[in-house]
Amino acid sequence: MSKPTIMTLKKMKQEGKKITMTTAYDYGMMSHVDKSDIDIVLVGDSGAMTMLGYESTVPVDMETMLTFCKGVSTAGKNTFLVGDMPFMSYEVSVEKAIENAGRLMKEGLVDCVKLEGGVTMADRVAGIVKAGIPVMGHIGLTPQSTSQLGGFTVQGKDTENAKQIVKDALALEEAGAFAILVEAIPAPVAKIITETVKVPTIGIGGGIHCDGQVLVLHDLLGIFDKFVPKFVKQYAQLGQDIQNALNTFATDVRGEQFPGKENSFNMKDEITEKLTSELKEEGIL
Ligand code: KIV
Repeated sequence: MSKPTIMTLKKMKQEGKKITMTTAYDYGMMSHVDKSDIDIVLVGDSGAMTMLGYESTVPVDMETMLTFCKGVSTAGKNTFLVGDMPFMSYEVSVEKAIENAGRLMKEGLVDCVKLEGGVTMADRVAGIVKAGIPVMGHIGLTPQSTSQLGGFTVQGKDTENAKQIVKDALALEEAGAFAILVEAIPAPVAKIITETVKVPTIGIGGGIHCDGQVLVLHDLLGIFDKFVPKFVKQYAQLGQDIQNALNTFATDVRGEQFPGKENSFNMKDEITEKLTSELKEEGIL
């Protein structure tokens, strides 16, 4: 599959072709993701939870995100790469936002950046876009602000809140975002947004009407087992597969079933004999 561009993604929306997106944080996993049919890979700040075991995405910093991005971009040749801007890397000022977005592009070698927030972050988005860096917006449930939102809860359930999320989407489009991720909002609200903005919407807990869908890789593959959000579908049980494989390895080692001849390096009998006799002569054996 050839690497999609922003133009490809816009065309996919126009033609009603669904966009697929997942996350990755390292070279090893990304080398498999890159061979799949996935269009976009987000180096997400969810890595704070999936890779580092934190309770939220808040603690992850720029340096760690850059390390994640470097691993992913080394393997990512066929997918469009999005670098997630960590908490407090863009909120402080437009200048700071541009500087950190630039680092993700220059050092992390991603194709664009993503940041959370609608109306309130529109000036950051506009600034980054003017600096020549494409931006994906992220509205609805914005995990970096869960303290403010009252936890990982569905957003936009009442008219006022839903209207605000629609306004957030419009503000991001106006600011120049090339796509908008909508997280944990009622499907009818995501439908209104998808039909109102010209840029593609990517849903996670946003229902079927979004232009594309994203799932966190470790949720999709059944690796992250702390909790499973309602909007997640596990397409594999790799966590269980990993444990089974490791247990089989341990059993093989304990039962002397591993390594087999095929995993060992042999030596001619006469050399072994010479070795042992010389070691005996030298008093080592
Ligand atoms: O960081 C992340 O993984 C996200 C998800 C909502 C896709 O932003």
